[in-house]
Amino acid sequence: MQTMPLQKEAGARYAKCVEVSKRVHWEIDRDVIRGRTLDHSKKFLPDGLSKVGELEFLDSAERRLLSQIQGRTYANIFGLVERYITAKMLELSHEHWLGDQAALEALVRFTDEEIKHQELFRRVEAMTAPGMPAGYTFVPRPNDVAAAVLSKSTWAVLALTCHIELFTQVHYRESIEPDGELSELWKDVFLSHWKEESQHAILDELEWQREDARIGPEQRDQGVNDLIALVGAVDGILQVQAAADSGYFLRVCSRVHDETEADRIKKTILAAYRWQYIVSGVQDERFQKILRGMITADQMERIGAALAPIVG
Ligand SMILES: [Fe+2]
Ligand SMILES: [Fe+2]
Repeated sequence: MQTMPLQKEAGARYAKCVEVSKRVHWEIDRDVIRGRTLDHSKKFLPDGLSKVGELEFLDSAERRLLSQIQGRTYANIFGLVERYITAKMLELSHEHWLGDQAALEALVRFTDEEIKHQELFRRVEAMTAPGMPAGYTFVPRPNDVAAAVLSKSTWAVLALTCHIELFTQVHYRESIEPDGELSELWKDVFLSHWKEESQHAILDELEWQREDARIGPEQRDQGVNDLIALVGAVDGILQVQAAADSGYFLRVCSRVHDETEADRIKKTILAAYRWQYIVSGVQDERFQKILRGMITADQMERIGAALAPIVG
């Protein structure tokens, strides 16, 4: 159980999240899309995330296409994970029903925002498709992934969620915001998303710490095992989608790439996806600090060993 001062501090943070959530609230058509379409003459995903700069043999049109394919997958991945995140947060809100009403409101707003984000990312996919050659596929299915994730312990699900919502912050601040060559609408989508995700990352931390205080050492150890399994499952999804996206890119490119180039394209896309969805999150200072505050050095080492082949 949390001590009184800690509960008070958490209470103030839930209330702050509600206040900011109300202040930054946006509507998809009125505030984000505003009657615009995506500009396919520009990049979507910035180089800092797509790693296209490592493929020096690509010409500028190919770089742009690869950035658009990855940007399309980026929006689809968020829509995918938000399916399970919404369900989990709605489930956890139960624990606040008759408790702290600010915490309840914060989680209700959180889930409402994630439902809206899923709609936004479906709109992005619908706007992206007409400007690109046919044949793109987004392989993982949101409900299958959600069922698999939600079968794991709450501690691990919250750890994964906190990691995702923290890397959303890092990606926007460090890569999307500073890149002046992106499609304006694509960039605005992620500016809007970032504004609401800032509160989500705080709420993930609060809920994760609340769960951590509730469970004992054995359950926490199982949580660590589950987290390792979840990261492995995420990596499995990334391998499948990276293969689909590199296959699509090579098929629709205006020229044929030889085997060496094709191999480098495949490897770079997988490395970019691992960077985007796993490495940039687990290496985030704030994530490391929260995690370290909960687990033993042995458990940290187990996680590090499991991550080693992915981090490369
Ligand atoms: Fe979101
Ligand atoms: Fe979120």
